Amino acid sequence: MKDDILRYLKNNKNKYVSGQAISNELSITRACVWKYIKELEVEGYKIEGISRKGYKLLYSPDILSREEIYENLNTKYIGKNIMHFDSLGSTNVEAKLLAAKNIENGTAVIGEEQTLGRGRLGRKWISPKYKGIWMSIVLYPEVEMSEVSKITQVAAASVINALSNLGIKAEIKWPNDIVINSKKVCGILTELSGELNKINHVVVGIGINANLEQEDFPEEIKNIGTSIKIENNNEINRKVLVAYILNEFEILYEEFLNHEFLNTLKICRENSALMGKKIRVIRNGQEILGEALDIEEDGALLVKYEDGKIERIISGEVSVRGLLGYV
Ligand code: BTN
Repeated sequence: MKDDILRYLKNNKNKYVSGQAISNELSITRACVWKYIKELEVEGYKIEGISRKGYKLLYSPDILSREEIYENLNTKYIGKNIMHFDSLGSTNVEAKLLAAKNIENGTAVIGEEQTLGRGRLGRKWISPKYKGIWMSIVLYPEVEMSEVSKITQVAAASVINALSNLGIKAEIKWPNDIVINSKKVCGILTELSGELNKINHVVVGIGINANLEQEDFPEEIKNIGTSIKIENNNEINRKVLVAYILNEFEILYEEFLNHEFLNTLKICRENSALMGKKIRVIRNGQEILGEALDIEEDGALLVKYEDGKIERIISGEVSVRGLLGYV
């Protein structure tokens, strides 16, 4: 009901709407309207209430609730269902639990804060409150298991396009990191549940360091991690970015389901942080020097080693780093 009142106020932007009009529209008492308005104020909404004129929404807080994201969302099913948490352990863990109960395809689980954020290879992912985008998308793709790693690239390409729509240039460090000025601002963790060759569900977790400050990063990752705010000297509008990512994701994911991967590939190639660069391929703790030649049609990275040998690297089996640092 509170969401209905908020939607009504948003639909009547810059106008006063009377308590009576809201109570008629939603078939609730005026006392109830007042109670929900007060609750919205506690959440950070600024609502002006003037007797005989009514209520006007003056300001919406920077939160990633369904109501806030919907304003810029134009998808058919990706992010149509948003589960918004003020705080939770990990959106990937929550999304997997919901997927096991068959939650709607395309559901986005979003947390303002994660207390047990998870990175790849069992690492921790720091996720301070209101400062980033900590989001997981639930999917039930009917594709071969071997195709699933492409969804990570679909997500990376969506983030690149969404940032570009906001005038922010970033690059992809194949396959699942987004970097600005060679430092990581986003990581993607795609998790799969399935048996034999049957996929039950896929959860794509996207973590974006949007508005973190220097002091939010622990000492050990300060030289490899950064935030969009630090690199651009500007606060980013998280709810617009979330909606843009979901919009872009739906387009590229639909293409992927139709076995069309060329647009994603093009974005990944054109915005690659590795292409043509000397890289270190780290496998089982061993490093080999090489050069990143291309991203192949199936998403594999083509590497030429110093001895002239060429190898196709499938995502996930090795770690790829720049010659001197992270990229
Ligand atoms: C990595 O680069 O190691 C991947 C990081 C993925 C982090 C995101 S934040 C949202 C989702 N929930 C998690 O616990 N992890 C992913």
